[in-house]
Amino acid sequence: MPPRDSAGALRLRDFPRLVQLRREAKERARLYREPDLTYLFWESTLRCNLRCRHCGSSCEAKSPLRELDTKEILGVLDTIAEDFDASRIFVSITGGEPLVRKDLFEVVAHMSKLGLASCIVTNGVLLDERNAARLVEAGMRTVSISVDGLAQTHEAVRGKGTFRPAIAALGRARAAGITTVEAITCARPANLAELADVERVVREAGADLWRVITIDRMGRLAGADAPDMWLTPPEVRRLLDFVEARRSSLAREGRQEQVRFSCGGFLGVRREHAVRPEAGQCYAGSAVASILCDGQVGACPSLPRAWAAQGSVREQRFSAIWRDRFERYRDLSWRRSGPCESCSWFDTCLGGGLHERLVQPDEFCWLERQDGA
Ligand SMILES: C[S@@+](CC[C@H](N)C(=O)[O-])C[C@H]1O[C@@H](n2cnc3c(N)ncnc32)[C@H](O)[C@@H]1O
Ligand code: SF4
Ligand code: SF4
Repeated sequence: MPPRDSAGALRLRDFPRLVQLRREAKERARLYREPDLTYLFWESTLRCNLRCRHCGSSCEAKSPLRELDTKEILGVLDTIAEDFDASRIFVSITGGEPLVRKDLFEVVAHMSKLGLASCIVTNGVLLDERNAARLVEAGMRTVSISVDGLAQTHEAVRGKGTFRPAIAALGRARAAGITTVEAITCARPANLAELADVERVVREAGADLWRVITIDRMGRLAGADAPDMWLTPPEVRRLLDFVEARRSSLAREGRQEQVRFSCGGFLGVRREHAVRPEAGQCYAGSAVASILCDGQVGACPSLPRAWAAQGSVREQRFSAIWRDRFERYRDLSWRRSGPCESCSWFDTCLGGGLHERLVQPDEFCWLERQDGA
Protein backbone atom coordinates (compact mmCIF):
# COMPACT_ATOMS: atom_id res chain seq x y z
CA MET A 1 0.00 0.00 0.00
CA PRO A 2 1.64 3.35 -0.99
CA PRO A 3 1.79 6.06 1.73
CA ARG A 4 -1.22 8.42 1.82
CA ASP A 5 0.68 11.34 0.28
CA SER A 6 2.21 9.22 -2.50
CA ALA A 7 1.21 10.01 -6.11
CA GLY A 8 -0.01 6.42 -6.40
CA ALA A 9 -2.22 6.50 -3.27
CA LEU A 10 -5.97 6.21 -3.69
CA ARG A 11 -8.58 7.76 -1.41
CA LEU A 12 -12.31 7.22 -1.39
CA ARG A 13 -12.98 10.62 -2.91
CA ASP A 14 -10.71 9.79 -5.89
CA PHE A 15 -13.08 7.11 -7.18
CA PRO A 16 -15.10 9.26 -9.64
CA ARG A 17 -11.81 10.38 -11.23
CA LEU A 18 -10.58 6.83 -11.31
CA VAL A 19 -13.70 5.73 -13.18
CA GLN A 20 -13.15 8.45 -15.78
CA LEU A 21 -9.45 7.61 -16.15
CA ARG A 22 -10.26 3.92 -16.61
CA ARG A 23 -12.73 4.89 -19.34
CA GLU A 24 -10.02 6.93 -21.07
CA ALA A 25 -7.54 4.04 -20.77
CA LYS A 26 -10.05 1.66 -22.35
CA GLU A 27 -10.43 4.07 -25.24
CA ARG A 28 -6.64 4.31 -25.58
CA ALA A 29 -6.39 0.51 -25.59
CA ARG A 30 -9.12 0.36 -28.26
CA LEU A 31 -7.17 2.79 -30.42
CA TYR A 32 -4.19 0.43 -30.37
CA ARG A 33 -6.51 -2.18 -31.88
CA GLU A 34 -8.28 0.27 -34.21
CA PRO A 35 -5.79 3.09 -34.89
CA ASP A 36 -7.22 6.44 -35.89
CA LEU A 37 -4.73 9.04 -37.08
CA THR A 38 -5.55 12.56 -35.87
CA TYR A 39 -2.13 14.08 -35.08
CA LEU A 40 0.82 14.02 -37.46
CA PHE A 41 4.29 15.45 -36.82
CA TRP A 42 6.39 16.46 -39.75
CA GLU A 43 10.03 16.67 -38.69
CA SER A 44 10.76 19.14 -41.46
CA THR A 45 14.55 19.18 -41.04
CA LEU A 46 17.34 18.47 -38.56
CA ARG A 47 19.05 21.72 -39.54
CA CYS A 48 18.92 24.57 -37.07
CA ASN A 49 20.10 28.15 -36.64
CA LEU A 50 20.69 27.52 -32.89
CA ARG A 51 22.64 24.92 -30.87
CA CYS A 52 20.63 24.56 -27.68
CA ARG A 53 22.39 22.67 -24.90
CA HIS A 54 19.38 20.45 -24.27
CA CYS A 55 18.42 19.84 -27.90
CA GLY A 56 16.73 16.47 -28.02
CA SER A 57 17.39 16.24 -31.77
CA SER A 58 21.13 17.22 -31.61
CA CYS A 59 20.56 19.79 -34.35
CA GLU A 60 23.40 21.50 -36.19
CA ALA A 61 23.81 23.68 -39.28
CA LYS A 62 23.89 20.62 -41.54
CA SER A 63 21.62 17.61 -41.46
CA PRO A 64 23.23 14.17 -41.13
CA LEU A 65 20.41 12.69 -43.25
CA ARG A 66 19.14 12.98 -46.82
CA GLU A 67 16.01 14.99 -46.12
CA LEU A 68 12.78 14.90 -48.10
CA ASP A 69 12.77 17.60 -50.77
CA THR A 70 9.78 19.75 -51.68
CA LYS A 71 8.44 17.43 -54.34
CA GLU A 72 8.72 14.42 -52.04
CA ILE A 73 6.89 15.95 -49.08
CA LEU A 74 4.15 17.44 -51.29
CA GLY A 75 3.65 14.00 -52.83
CA VAL A 76 3.39 12.32 -49.42
CA LEU A 77 0.84 14.90 -48.28
CA ASP A 78 -1.22 14.21 -51.42
CA THR A 79 -1.38 10.51 -50.54
CA ILE A 80 -2.42 11.35 -46.99
CA ALA A 81 -5.27 13.53 -48.26
CA GLU A 82 -6.33 10.71 -50.58
CA ASP A 83 -6.24 7.97 -47.94
CA PHE A 84 -7.49 9.77 -44.80
CA ASP A 85 -10.03 12.44 -43.90
CA ALA A 86 -7.64 15.41 -43.92
CA SER A 87 -10.05 17.59 -41.94
CA ARG A 88 -9.49 15.31 -38.90
CA ILE A 89 -5.67 15.52 -38.98
CA PHE A 90 -3.61 18.26 -37.35
CA VAL A 91 -0.01 18.55 -38.55
CA SER A 92 2.66 19.83 -36.18
CA ILE A 93 5.71 20.95 -38.16
CA THR A 94 8.80 20.65 -36.03
CA GLY A 95 12.52 20.06 -36.46
CA GLY A 96 15.23 21.21 -36.21
CA GLU A 97 14.03 24.65 -37.04
CA PRO A 98 11.18 24.64 -39.59
CA LEU A 99 11.90 28.24 -40.62
CA VAL A 100 15.29 27.30 -42.11
CA ARG A 101 13.41 25.39 -44.84
CA LYS A 102 12.98 27.73 -47.79
CA ASP A 103 9.94 25.78 -49.02
CA LEU A 104 8.11 25.90 -45.66
CA PHE A 105 5.46 28.36 -46.88
CA GLU A 106 4.80 26.35 -50.03
CA VAL A 107 4.38 23.14 -48.00
CA VAL A 108 2.08 24.85 -45.46
CA ALA A 109 -0.03 26.28 -48.29
CA HIS A 110 -0.27 22.81 -49.80
CA MET A 111 -1.39 21.37 -46.45
CA SER A 112 -4.06 24.06 -46.17
CA LYS A 113 -5.23 23.37 -49.72
CA LEU A 114 -5.60 19.69 -48.83
CA GLY A 115 -7.60 20.55 -45.69
CA LEU A 116 -4.81 19.74 -43.19
CA ALA A 117 -4.60 22.27 -40.34
CA SER A 118 -1.01 22.89 -39.25
CA CYS A 119 1.29 24.63 -36.77
CA ILE A 120 5.04 25.15 -36.48
CA VAL A 121 7.16 24.67 -33.39
CA THR A 122 9.93 27.25 -33.64
CA ASN A 123 12.65 28.96 -31.65
CA GLY A 124 11.17 32.20 -32.99
CA VAL A 125 14.45 33.80 -34.06
CA LEU A 126 13.55 33.72 -37.78
CA LEU A 127 9.88 34.58 -37.26
CA ASP A 128 10.05 38.16 -38.47
CA GLU A 129 7.00 40.13 -39.62
CA ARG A 130 7.29 38.91 -43.19
CA ASN A 131 7.55 35.24 -42.24
CA ALA A 132 4.65 35.53 -39.79
CA ALA A 133 2.53 37.08 -42.55
CA ARG A 134 3.58 34.38 -45.01
CA LEU A 135 2.51 31.63 -42.60
CA VAL A 136 -0.89 33.25 -42.19
CA GLU A 137 -1.22 33.69 -45.97
CA ALA A 138 -0.40 29.99 -46.32
CA GLY A 139 -3.32 29.20 -44.02
CA MET A 140 -1.58 28.49 -40.73
CA ARG A 141 -3.45 29.54 -37.57
CA THR A 142 -1.35 28.04 -34.73
CA VAL A 143 2.27 28.72 -33.80
CA SER A 144 4.28 27.34 -30.85
CA ILE A 145 7.38 29.23 -29.72
CA SER A 146 9.94 27.92 -27.23
CA VAL A 147 10.70 30.16 -24.26
CA ASP A 148 12.88 28.37 -21.71
CA GLY A 149 12.92 30.96 -18.93
CA LEU A 150 13.47 34.66 -18.41
CA ALA A 151 16.25 36.22 -20.49
CA GLN A 152 19.26 34.85 -18.61
CA THR A 153 17.87 31.36 -18.00
CA HIS A 154 16.56 31.04 -21.55
CA GLU A 155 19.87 32.14 -23.05
CA ALA A 156 21.87 29.84 -20.74
CA VAL A 157 20.57 26.93 -22.83
CA ARG A 158 19.55 28.58 -26.13
CA GLY A 159 22.43 31.01 -26.62
CA LYS A 160 23.03 34.75 -26.43
CA GLY A 161 20.55 37.02 -28.14
CA THR A 162 17.81 34.40 -28.49
CA PHE A 163 15.35 35.59 -25.81
CA ARG A 164 14.15 38.91 -27.24
CA PRO A 165 13.46 37.48 -30.71
CA ALA A 166 11.48 34.58 -29.17
CA ILE A 167 9.34 36.97 -27.12
CA ALA A 168 8.93 39.33 -30.07
CA ALA A 169 7.89 36.37 -32.23
CA LEU A 170 4.91 35.68 -29.93
CA GLY A 171 3.64 39.20 -30.59
CA ARG A 172 4.43 39.08 -34.31
CA ALA A 173 2.52 35.83 -34.71
CA ARG A 174 -0.48 37.37 -32.94
CA ALA A 175 -0.29 40.61 -34.94
CA ALA A 176 -0.08 38.71 -38.22
CA GLY A 177 -3.36 36.92 -37.50
CA ILE A 178 -2.28 33.62 -35.90
CA THR A 179 -5.22 32.76 -33.64
CA THR A 180 -3.56 30.26 -31.28
CA VAL A 181 -0.18 31.44 -30.05
CA GLU A 182 1.50 28.96 -27.73
CA ALA A 183 4.66 29.34 -25.67
CA ILE A 184 6.48 26.14 -24.66
CA THR A 185 8.80 26.08 -21.68
CA CYS A 186 11.18 23.23 -20.82
CA ALA A 187 11.20 23.22 -17.01
CA ARG A 188 14.53 22.67 -15.26
CA PRO A 189 15.83 23.49 -11.78
CA ALA A 190 17.09 26.92 -12.88
CA ASN A 191 13.74 28.20 -14.13
CA LEU A 192 11.35 26.69 -11.58
CA ALA A 193 11.34 29.76 -9.35
CA GLU A 194 10.66 32.10 -12.27
CA LEU A 195 7.79 30.23 -13.91
CA ALA A 196 5.19 32.74 -12.71
CA ASP A 197 7.22 35.54 -14.34
CA VAL A 198 7.71 33.51 -17.52
CA GLU A 199 3.95 33.12 -17.77
CA ARG A 200 3.43 36.85 -17.25
CA VAL A 201 6.02 37.72 -19.93
CA VAL A 202 4.69 35.29 -22.55
CA ARG A 203 1.09 36.38 -21.90
CA GLU A 204 2.00 40.07 -22.22
CA ALA A 205 3.77 39.24 -25.48
CA GLY A 206 0.68 37.55 -26.94
CA ALA A 207 0.56 33.87 -25.91
CA ASP A 208 -2.85 32.47 -25.06
CA LEU A 209 -1.58 28.94 -24.46
CA TRP A 210 1.43 28.05 -22.30
CA ARG A 211 2.74 24.52 -22.18
CA VAL A 212 5.31 23.44 -19.63
CA ILE A 213 7.28 20.32 -20.44
CA THR A 214 10.13 18.43 -18.80
CA ILE A 215 13.46 17.65 -20.42
CA ASP A 216 14.18 14.15 -21.71
CA ARG A 217 17.60 12.50 -21.76
CA MET A 218 17.92 12.37 -25.50
CA GLY A 219 19.79 14.02 -28.36
CA ARG A 220 22.61 16.17 -26.96
CA LEU A 221 21.67 15.02 -23.47
CA ALA A 222 21.64 11.29 -24.19
CA GLY A 223 24.03 9.75 -21.66
CA ALA A 224 25.11 13.19 -20.47
CA ASP A 225 25.76 13.90 -16.84
CA ALA A 226 23.68 17.08 -16.69
CA PRO A 227 21.98 17.34 -13.28
CA ASP A 228 21.01 20.95 -14.05
CA MET A 229 18.50 19.59 -16.60
CA TRP A 230 16.64 17.02 -14.42
CA LEU A 231 14.07 17.73 -11.77
CA THR A 232 14.30 15.90 -8.44
CA PRO A 233 11.04 14.47 -6.99
CA PRO A 234 10.45 17.57 -4.79
CA GLU A 235 11.01 19.76 -7.88
CA VAL A 236 8.61 17.63 -9.93
CA ARG A 237 5.96 18.07 -7.21
CA ARG A 238 6.62 21.79 -7.09
CA LEU A 239 6.22 22.05 -10.87
CA LEU A 240 2.98 20.05 -10.92
CA ASP A 241 1.63 22.02 -7.92
CA PHE A 242 2.36 25.23 -9.80
CA VAL A 243 0.65 24.11 -13.01
CA GLU A 244 -2.33 22.78 -11.03
CA ALA A 245 -2.73 26.03 -9.11
CA ARG A 246 -2.51 28.13 -12.27
CA ARG A 247 -5.06 25.98 -14.11
CA SER A 248 -7.55 26.13 -11.29
CA SER A 249 -7.15 29.85 -10.85
CA LEU A 250 -7.62 30.52 -14.61
CA ALA A 251 -10.71 28.28 -14.58
CA ARG A 252 -12.12 30.04 -11.48
CA GLU A 253 -11.68 33.41 -13.15
CA GLY A 254 -13.33 32.09 -16.34
CA ARG A 255 -10.29 33.11 -18.41
CA GLN A 256 -9.67 31.90 -21.97
CA GLU A 257 -5.91 31.54 -21.52
CA GLN A 258 -4.60 28.10 -20.76
CA VAL A 259 -1.68 26.47 -19.00
CA ARG A 260 -0.97 22.80 -19.42
CA PHE A 261 1.62 20.19 -18.60
CA SER A 262 2.99 18.12 -21.48
CA CYS A 263 1.66 14.76 -22.65
CA GLY A 264 3.33 11.59 -21.35
CA GLY A 265 2.88 8.86 -18.77
CA PHE A 266 0.17 8.60 -16.09
CA LEU A 267 0.58 11.20 -13.33
CA GLY A 268 -1.70 9.66 -10.72
CA VAL A 269 -5.46 9.96 -10.18
CA ARG A 270 -5.34 13.34 -8.46
CA ARG A 271 -2.83 14.95 -10.82
CA GLU A 272 -3.85 13.63 -14.21
CA HIS A 273 -6.73 15.97 -15.06
CA ALA A 274 -5.56 18.71 -12.73
CA VAL A 275 -2.46 19.64 -14.78
CA ARG A 276 -3.56 18.89 -18.34
CA PRO A 277 -6.78 18.31 -20.28
CA GLU A 278 -8.37 14.90 -20.64
CA ALA A 279 -6.60 12.45 -22.93
CA GLY A 280 -3.22 13.88 -21.95
CA GLN A 281 -1.46 10.53 -21.85
CA CYS A 282 0.48 8.91 -24.65
CA TYR A 283 -1.16 8.14 -28.06
CA ALA A 284 2.04 7.32 -29.99
CA GLY A 285 1.24 4.87 -32.77
CA SER A 286 -2.53 4.81 -32.16
CA ALA A 287 -3.57 8.38 -33.01
CA VAL A 288 -0.14 10.02 -33.45
CA ALA A 289 2.36 9.46 -36.25
CA SER A 290 5.32 11.33 -37.67
CA ILE A 291 7.08 11.75 -40.96
CA LEU A 292 10.73 12.11 -40.06
CA CYS A 293 13.01 14.37 -42.10
CA ASP A 294 14.44 11.51 -44.18
CA GLY A 295 11.01 10.03 -44.94
CA GLN A 296 10.96 7.40 -42.20
CA VAL A 297 7.57 7.07 -40.50
CA GLY A 298 7.27 6.76 -36.72
CA ALA A 299 5.18 8.25 -33.92
CA CYS A 300 6.49 11.37 -32.13
CA PRO A 301 9.91 12.64 -33.25
CA SER A 302 11.08 12.34 -29.61
CA LEU A 303 11.34 8.56 -29.91
CA PRO A 304 14.74 6.99 -30.59
CA ARG A 305 14.94 6.71 -34.39
CA ALA A 306 16.07 3.12 -34.61
CA TRP A 307 13.10 1.98 -32.49
CA ALA A 308 10.58 4.38 -34.00
CA ALA A 309 11.07 3.96 -37.74
CA GLN A 310 8.47 1.72 -39.35
CA GLY A 311 9.23 2.18 -43.03
CA SER A 312 9.99 4.97 -45.47
CA VAL A 313 7.60 7.04 -47.56
CA ARG A 314 10.30 6.85 -50.23
CA GLU A 315 9.45 3.18 -50.61
CA GLN A 316 5.86 2.77 -49.43
CA ARG A 317 2.67 4.74 -49.21
CA PHE A 318 2.29 6.45 -45.82
CA SER A 319 -1.13 4.88 -45.22
CA ALA A 320 0.25 1.37 -45.85
CA ILE A 321 2.96 1.89 -43.22
CA TRP A 322 0.38 3.28 -40.76
CA ARG A 323 -2.01 0.42 -41.44
CA ASP A 324 0.35 -2.57 -41.65
CA ARG A 325 3.31 -1.71 -39.43
CA PHE A 326 3.52 -0.13 -35.95
CA GLU A 327 3.24 -3.61 -34.43
CA ARG A 328 5.57 -2.81 -31.52
CA TYR A 329 3.65 0.38 -30.75
CA ARG A 330 0.30 -1.39 -30.71
CA ASP A 331 1.37 -4.52 -28.85
CA LEU A 332 0.93 -3.59 -25.20
CA SER A 333 2.22 -6.92 -23.86
CA TRP A 334 5.89 -5.89 -23.65
CA ARG A 335 4.94 -2.81 -21.68
CA ARG A 336 3.77 -5.00 -18.82
CA SER A 337 7.38 -5.65 -17.85
CA GLY A 338 9.95 -4.17 -15.45
CA PRO A 339 8.30 -1.90 -12.88
CA CYS A 340 4.95 -2.14 -14.74
CA GLU A 341 4.71 -5.93 -14.41
CA SER A 342 3.16 -5.95 -10.96
CA CYS A 343 1.84 -2.38 -10.94
CA SER A 344 -1.80 -2.05 -9.86
CA TRP A 345 -2.12 1.05 -12.10
CA PHE A 346 -1.30 -0.72 -15.35
CA ASP A 347 -4.88 -0.73 -16.65
CA THR A 348 -5.10 3.04 -16.13
CA CYS A 349 -1.59 3.87 -17.32
CA LEU A 350 -0.79 1.25 -20.00
CA GLY A 351 2.89 1.37 -19.17
CA GLY A 352 3.89 5.04 -19.29
CA GLY A 353 4.64 7.56 -22.03
CA LEU A 354 6.46 5.83 -24.86
CA HIS A 355 9.22 8.40 -25.40
CA GLU A 356 9.99 8.53 -21.69
CA ARG A 357 9.98 4.76 -21.42
CA LEU A 358 12.41 4.40 -24.33
CA VAL A 359 14.80 7.26 -23.67
CA GLN A 360 15.05 6.89 -19.90
CA PRO A 361 14.09 3.30 -19.10
CA ASP A 362 15.21 3.65 -15.46
CA GLU A 363 13.15 6.75 -14.77
CA PHE A 364 9.99 6.78 -16.82
CA CYS A 365 7.30 6.18 -14.20
CA TRP A 366 5.70 9.48 -13.22
CA LEU A 367 4.42 8.07 -9.93
CA GLU A 368 8.00 7.28 -8.95
CA ARG A 369 9.24 10.60 -10.30
CA GLN A 370 6.91 12.41 -7.90
CA ASP A 371 7.64 10.38 -4.80
CA GLY A 372 10.69 10.77 -2.62
CA ALA A 373 12.95 13.42 -1.18
C1 LIG B 1 13.29 19.91 -31.00
S1 LIG B 1 12.44 21.43 -30.89
C2 LIG B 1 12.21 21.85 -32.59
C3 LIG B 1 11.50 23.16 -32.80
C4 LIG B 1 12.29 24.43 -32.58
N1 LIG B 1 13.59 24.38 -33.10
C5 LIG B 1 12.28 24.83 -31.11
O1 LIG B 1 13.32 24.76 -30.46
O2 LIG B 1 11.21 25.20 -30.64
C6 LIG B 1 10.78 21.02 -30.38
C7 LIG B 1 10.51 21.22 -28.90
O3 LIG B 1 11.25 20.26 -28.18
C8 LIG B 1 11.81 20.88 -27.03
N2 LIG B 1 12.99 20.14 -26.65
C9 LIG B 1 14.25 20.26 -27.11
N3 LIG B 1 15.07 19.40 -26.50
C10 LIG B 1 14.33 18.68 -25.64
C11 LIG B 1 14.62 17.63 -24.70
N4 LIG B 1 15.85 17.14 -24.55
N5 LIG B 1 13.58 17.15 -23.96
C12 LIG B 1 12.32 17.65 -24.10
N6 LIG B 1 12.00 18.64 -24.97
C13 LIG B 1 12.99 19.16 -25.72
C14 LIG B 1 12.09 22.28 -27.49
O4 LIG B 1 12.22 23.16 -26.39
C15 LIG B 1 10.89 22.58 -28.36
O5 LIG B 1 9.85 23.14 -27.59
S1 SF4 C 1 15.85 22.81 -29.46
FE1 SF4 C 1 15.07 23.69 -31.37
S2 SF4 C 1 16.19 25.63 -31.57
FE2 SF4 C 1 17.29 24.43 -30.10
S3 SF4 C 1 18.92 23.39 -31.31
FE3 SF4 C 1 17.15 21.98 -31.11
S4 SF4 C 1 15.95 22.30 -32.91
FE4 SF4 C 1 17.34 24.08 -32.71
S1 SF4 D 1 4.88 1.34 -12.98
FE1 SF4 D 1 4.37 1.39 -15.16
S2 SF4 D 1 2.16 0.99 -15.25
FE2 SF4 D 1 2.66 1.56 -13.13
S3 SF4 D 1 2.24 3.76 -13.04
FE3 SF4 D 1 4.42 3.48 -13.46
S4 SF4 D 1 4.60 3.57 -15.70
FE4 SF4 D 1 2.44 3.21 -15.19
